[in-house]
Amino acid sequence: MTPEEFRRFGHQLIDWLADYHTGLKQRPVMSPVQPGDIKKQLPAAPPDHGEPMDAMLGDLERIVLPGLSHWQHPHFFGYFPSNAELAGVLGDFASTGLGVLGLAWQSSPAVTEVEEVVTDWVRRMVGLGEDWSGVIQDTASSSTLVALISARERTTGYALSRGGLQAEAAPLAIYVSAHSHSSVDKAALLAGFGRANLRLVPIDDAYAMRPDALEALIREDLAAGIRPCAVVATVGTTATTAIDPIRGIADVTRRHGLWLHVDAAMAGSAMILPECRWMWDGIEGADSLVINTHKWLGVPFDCSLYYVRDPEHLIRVMSTNPSFLQTSVDGQVKSLRDWGIPLGRRFRALKLWFVIREQGVAGLQARLRRDMANAAWLADKVSATPGWRVLAPVHLQTVCLRHEPAGVTGDALDRHTLGWAERINRSGAAYLTPAVIDGRWMVRVSIGALATEAEHVATVWETIRQAAEAEARPG
Ligand SMILES: Cc1ncc(COP(=O)(O)O)c(C=O)c1O
Repeated sequence: MTPEEFRRFGHQLIDWLADYHTGLKQRPVMSPVQPGDIKKQLPAAPPDHGEPMDAMLGDLERIVLPGLSHWQHPHFFGYFPSNAELAGVLGDFASTGLGVLGLAWQSSPAVTEVEEVVTDWVRRMVGLGEDWSGVIQDTASSSTLVALISARERTTGYALSRGGLQAEAAPLAIYVSAHSHSSVDKAALLAGFGRANLRLVPIDDAYAMRPDALEALIREDLAAGIRPCAVVATVGTTATTAIDPIRGIADVTRRHGLWLHVDAAMAGSAMILPECRWMWDGIEGADSLVINTHKWLGVPFDCSLYYVRDPEHLIRVMSTNPSFLQTSVDGQVKSLRDWGIPLGRRFRALKLWFVIREQGVAGLQARLRRDMANAAWLADKVSATPGWRVLAPVHLQTVCLRHEPAGVTGDALDRHTLGWAERINRSGAAYLTPAVIDGRWMVRVSIGALATEAEHVATVWETIRQAAEAEARPG
């Protein structure tokens, strides 16, 4: 493709995306396609000869769009928001269009330096002290994996430079809560700790980790000759946005010399609001933390910010220094390949930079406050309606609710809950994700898509009530 063709089709594609956004409300939120529907429209073999760009753009509309669930839709209330501020879309586009890599500072100095500056902007925005240093990872899953590898190496005194975990005399244990995200278990397993050494710390009535129970588990392990290594606490769990008490947990980790990693993948964005910072009170006692700016904050996926208090340790664990990557300025600059797992680093910082500059901190704060107010409104409505229940404290923007008609309990209640949620999702009117707490299904209404205003929350509440009533009707 020549630059002139790129100009023409690029304009066409941006127009198409702008139209997509303005017409989004008319589309079903959840894709109605069946498994295999998309694949069967695509040829099994690649084309021998190049095709005109028009054909690709046409197929985007004809084949791909019907196969999408629309995360930017004002009635998207599933999972957690994965917002894509359009300024960030342009930043990402610029990154791809420039096609540069930050393998070393010298391979494209701005890649490293813009990233250093914007991760430090976010540090200030969320009120972290100057002793935290940040780097962009792809996802929270990777950030947590890096954290647990770092913890492993600190506890073992850099076992990787000897026989690794396999040569350790005693197993190392990791402590998480039953409500931690699945990526935390995965990171612990991939970092080599083993399922047998993964402890689930009991939770309290608000689904938060209990520091006293953590202390008891650590003591049991010590008595059994097992070496406690790290705790992963969550600020804003996925099921209910529960808040593990960081200060109390940090007291325990400090006492026993354990690594404390804080998964604030979702709630980290809310720390740009001073009134929310109580949620990570004690954060200065942690060793590492992750904030997904690609969730609520609005930076297009993927842009996960990983902060550490001891970058020298991270670098010692992650660094490689092959001759072809060495440069004369290495001593004066940051080498971000030593701050995580991949060598190649694309210019992700651009989209974060664009979003913060275009919105301003005040703009971002106003939107998050809007979403929290909408969630509080919905929670009030649900609590005030007979037969309905809010099941967990509403700390942020997610409301966990259940319709509990008289006489419907146990498995029948689960069938009812899943039935009305499925009814809504299939209708395309909204997208909701059910989840299990205390052994029973409930429905999460996760507010926070960029386009979701109060009127859309009022509409989804009406939709939910009607679907639950229809599901409860005999026949
Ligand atoms: C609390 C929490 N941690 C981690 C993750 C995983 O995020 P990622 O997709 O960036 O790995 C999620 C995803 O929703 C989450 O809610």
